[in-house]
Amino acid sequence: MVFRSIINFFRRKQSKIEIKKEVNLSRVVKEKESLEKPVEETIKEVKERKRIETEGRAEEKRKEVLDEEREKIEEEIVEEIQTIEKEEIKEEIDKEILKKKELGKKKIKIHKDKKEIPRVIALANQKGGVGKSTTAINMSASMAKLGKKVILIDIDPQANTTSGVGINKYNVNRTIYDAMIERADINELIQETNIDGLFIVPSNIHLAGAEVELVNMMMREQRLKKIIEPIRDKYDFIIIDCPPALSVLTINALVAADEVLIPIQCEYYALEGLGQLLRTIELVKNNLNSNLEISGFVMTMYDSRTKLSGQVVDEVRRYFGEKVYKTIIPRNVRVSEAPSYGLPVILYDPDCKGAIAYINFTKEVINYGEKRTWKGT
Ligand SMILES: Nc1ncnc2c1ncn2[C@@H]1O[C@H](COP(=O)(O)OP(=O)(O)OP(=O)(O)O)[C@@H](O)[C@H]1O
Ligand SMILES: [Mg+2]
Repeated sequence: MVFRSIINFFRRKQSKIEIKKEVNLSRVVKEKESLEKPVEETIKEVKERKRIETEGRAEEKRKEVLDEEREKIEEEIVEEIQTIEKEEIKEEIDKEILKKKELGKKKIKIHKDKKEIPRVIALANQKGGVGKSTTAINMSASMAKLGKKVILIDIDPQANTTSGVGINKYNVNRTIYDAMIERADINELIQETNIDGLFIVPSNIHLAGAEVELVNMMMREQRLKKIIEPIRDKYDFIIIDCPPALSVLTINALVAADEVLIPIQCEYYALEGLGQLLRTIELVKNNLNSNLEISGFVMTMYDSRTKLSGQVVDEVRRYFGEKVYKTIIPRNVRVSEAPSYGLPVILYDPDCKGAIAYINFTKEVINYGEKRTWKGT
């Protein structure tokens, strides 16, 4: 019994110990668990923080990259816009330039259209040796040099203009005379000269006979006008050199012309005979050619060494004012030498004073016509 009780006692003890052990064990486990949990959590937290940090940094990095990319893209866009703008501006400029060019072309075209109304200019003064032929040759040559298409019509039987552009007047078979007496068409008479753009209908001594032959012809004053009709549109300028007389040939020139240009030599009797010339021009204007106008007076053979030349210019300017061309042609030995070489002075000696004066004078003549043709448009 005792033994049983002892055994029971030990059994109880043992079970108590067991229970205690178990309790302890579970406590240890619990403690261990409680110990392990925060570590895991901490690790987890740390990991989480790290993750967040890493993600944050990655996010930042991503943002940075994105920002950089955006900046880059923005820069590219700006660049592109600038290029487009530049191109657009360039296009605009190109368009403007084109427009201006077109306008210029139009202007030139209008100008050309206007200029294509050819100007027929007669050089007249019944006084001999005042510079009609010299002016006709050098003005025509200068016009050609300035790009105009010019034809000279020599209606002086002396034919100084014909020889002045290099044509042997003793060798020409057909002249303006043939057209005057209706024996030839003007197109068959036109000759080229050694100056580009300058043509001539020559003359020779036979023309002297025309004065007589024309007497019995119908509308004899209108002959030259009729003759040049078919070629009017082919030239910018038709220049007619008249003989030193108020003859039927000169009247023909005044009827055919739109303008008359009067050379006046800078010498003592400069104005003598001018009254008669002006009256003749007035008569032609009133009866035969209402278009005719005096385009101007050109002072020739001006000698700067003499007082007289200056006085003559002043006198002529007092009478005719603005109608006197500003450019004065000086007396120049090169001008008088040139015809014997069959050359205009602007080719014979382009740098001499005479050549320079003729070029400047020609520009004035061309501009005068431009002012005239542009009036009222
Ligand atoms: N500026 C000048 N300088 C020097 N000599 C000139 C000048 N102009 C013309 N001459 C000379 O004067 C002379 C007369 O000139 P030109 O033949 O041109 O006059 P013209 O009026 O045509 O004469 P015509 O009435 O006889 O036809 C010519 O010998 C010419 O060489
Ligand atoms: Mg002459």
